[in-house]
Amino acid sequence: MHLIKKGILLVAFGSRIPAAQSAYQNIDQKVKTTFPQIPVRWAYTSAIIRRKLAEGGIQIDSVEIALAKMMDEGFTHLAVQSLQTVSGKEYHDLVRIVRAFELMPHGFQITVGYPLLSSSLDMTRVAAALIRHIPQERKNEEAVVFMGHGGSHPSNAVYTALMYHLQQKDPNIFVGCVESSPTIENIKQILLDRKIKTAYLIPFMSVAGHHALKDLAGNDENSWKSILTACGIKSVAVLKGTAEYDDMVDIWVDHLKDAIASFSSFEVQA
Ligand code: CO
Repeated sequence: MHLIKKGILLVAFGSRIPAAQSAYQNIDQKVKTTFPQIPVRWAYTSAIIRRKLAEGGIQIDSVEIALAKMMDEGFTHLAVQSLQTVSGKEYHDLVRIVRAFELMPHGFQITVGYPLLSSSLDMTRVAAALIRHIPQERKNEEAVVFMGHGGSHPSNAVYTALMYHLQQKDPNIFVGCVESSPTIENIKQILLDRKIKTAYLIPFMSVAGHHALKDLAGNDENSWKSILTACGIKSVAVLKGTAEYDDMVDIWVDHLKDAIASFSSFEVQA
């Protein structure tokens, strides 16, 4: 008879910013409360961040190392939860690593939980949560500009789709991407056309890390704050990541529940 040993691996990009750690701890707590019987491990995909953390004595595994350790320890069923925001390059790389481990002779059965924005239900829930956490003092004629990460992967279109959903509720909410489109220049032009005087700048990333502190709210001339300030739009930065909000974390946890629920079908096959 086969002994079943289930495990959870949470996979994030990683961050060195202390406030980001509390966001990750929030996810960790929620996952452990939801699945008290299942051991929970972490991996960061960013080699640079892992290296810098290691210099300060904090050891975080890569996905490959974390999976190898769990394989070695005899885990039979593993749910890997992506803490990414969209199913972009990071997520697809994660899936490729997982598939490689499945092929190994002592391989376990692995399922991968989807990133935050992966279904139309997610879109509705994320849009509602983003609107819920806009500061109360913001007035309707003021803009709210979310900064997503973005990239060259086709999933980048999800950010524009999210903006569409948000604007159905509130036409002065925008979503741009720091590494891709919609760009801050695109958004700036609309704000100027609408004669908007104030914009709330909020990261749409799991943690308010490097991009939020530097590219969104930093004092460099290329930051979104500086770009808007230069054309007379006052900026108010709200430096909190999505993982700091329970209603956002619930979405990742629900994806993890789905990943764990699919274990049973594997057991039937075995
Ligand atoms: Co980046």
